[in-house]
Amino acid sequence: MEEDYISGEYICVKALENGVQVIGMTRGRDTRFHHTEKMDAGEVVLAQFTQNTSAIKIRGRALIITRHGQIESGK
Ligand code: TRP
Repeated sequence: MEEDYISGEYICVKALENGVQVIGMTRGRDTRFHHTEKMDAGEVVLAQFTQNTSAIKIRGRALIITRHGQIESGK
């Protein structure tokens, strides 16, 4: 049920430099980018995995916080 995905937990991404990209990748047989969000240093995005998004790719230096722990990308 769509609502089950949409009420799922959030991940948190904080950009640690300008030009960080948070890229949503499609769920299903083909894996495409369906959205690219550009962030500047200090900006924070809270995002969910949904029926349309099965993976999230992050380019650049960012702090990523999920229930699995905290990780820094881009260094
Ligand atoms: N479209 C794929 C899926 O829904 C997404 C995917 C599978 C993927 N494996 C991956 C994305 C590895 C990035 C890396 O299952």
